[in-house]
Amino acid sequence: MKLEPFAMERMQSTYENEVEFNLSESGVHPLTVRELLADPHDWDAVLDQRLVYTQSNGTRELRARIAALYPGAGVDHVEVTNGGSEANFVVTWKLVEPGDEVVLMVPNYMQTWGLARAFGGAVREWALKPAHAARRWVADLDELTRLVTPKTRLIIICTPNNPTGARLTEAELDEICRIAGRHGTWVLSDEIYRGAERDGRESPSIWGRYERAIVTSGLSKAYGLPGLRIGWIVGPPDLAAATWSYHDYTTIAPGALSDRLAREALTEERRQMLLGRTRTIVRDNFPVLEQWLAGQPGAFTWIPPEAGAICYVQYHYDINSLELANRLRTEKSVLIVPGDHFGMDRYIRLGYGERPEYLRDGLARVAELLATVPIAGAAART
Ligand SMILES: Cc1ncc(COP(=O)(O)O)c(C=O)c1O
Repeated sequence: MKLEPFAMERMQSTYENEVEFNLSESGVHPLTVRELLADPHDWDAVLDQRLVYTQSNGTRELRARIAALYPGAGVDHVEVTNGGSEANFVVTWKLVEPGDEVVLMVPNYMQTWGLARAFGGAVREWALKPAHAARRWVADLDELTRLVTPKTRLIIICTPNNPTGARLTEAELDEICRIAGRHGTWVLSDEIYRGAERDGRESPSIWGRYERAIVTSGLSKAYGLPGLRIGWIVGPPDLAAATWSYHDYTTIAPGALSDRLAREALTEERRQMLLGRTRTIVRDNFPVLEQWLAGQPGAFTWIPPEAGAICYVQYHYDINSLELANRLRTEKSVLIVPGDHFGMDRYIRLGYGERPEYLRDGLARVAELLATVPIAGAAART
């Protein structure tokens, strides 16, 4: 099996802890354990947690808390993984065989693009399109109908989407399921940004719309707890059980301490606190980014993200996006994600989930560098 490099993660893994300003992150400023467990009465349960191999598909209590977020699901629908990335990994590994077609919404977190290809699948890209007048990214369902064939094993979507922050509507999700249902195609919906909406309205889920719908998610983005490395799969019990047996070959089990802290994070009160915190950050920080973008007329075109602490920005400077990212890193110690990592030059993804003063200072450095780059001709602007 040949794995192509996962360009964005490789770049982040290499540099994110070396730069002064990391604007490549898609989540919000993470919490400390103390912030998560503000009441000292709750500390003993954590300190007394024995560092065993915990229940390898997640403790029953954690799976029950996760299942409660998906109407009609029970503990047998849930498989707990090490991060959303392991959830995506085992689902794709389980489902994709050589010769299968996989329809992938793009732009997207490119993990499943690389995995589907590594497992012998043929990836057919289904592009979200920017509708600038409506200020939203549009899902072309007629195109999806054309792309899905009897050989399509899996449709992969990401909603709210990384990198655009766009969310699919209930009607769009229903239609995706209807199209998938024509050939018994599975639908994998990565919903790890669900709960991080700027307008506070929870994004619709694929869950409950189709018998072959699978959700992957976790605590890394909307909950602000990426260091816990807790993700999950919610799907039909047979599928959840099958992915559990694949998990035996990857990491066996989640960390016992992480499972424990995840149970604490998902009590209803703390869950509301965590999501409220994230929504406050994205609501308060986006104007900082938007004012910065608007302060440079003719330089950028963007559609405001509906959810997630990321904005996918088209720029009109005469420079390739990877070159721009490399120069920002080496000359200004700022890390951003180049559109090249999503197969789209002339875009950058800017993370705005950090503290406002950090964001302002990082953006000021980006502006310093851009001031030295020529703006492309007006014809290049769309
Ligand atoms: C859409 C999406 N899914 C999954 C992940 C990975 O999540 P985790 O850090 O929980 O493994 C990311 C990380 O950026 C992501 O953007």
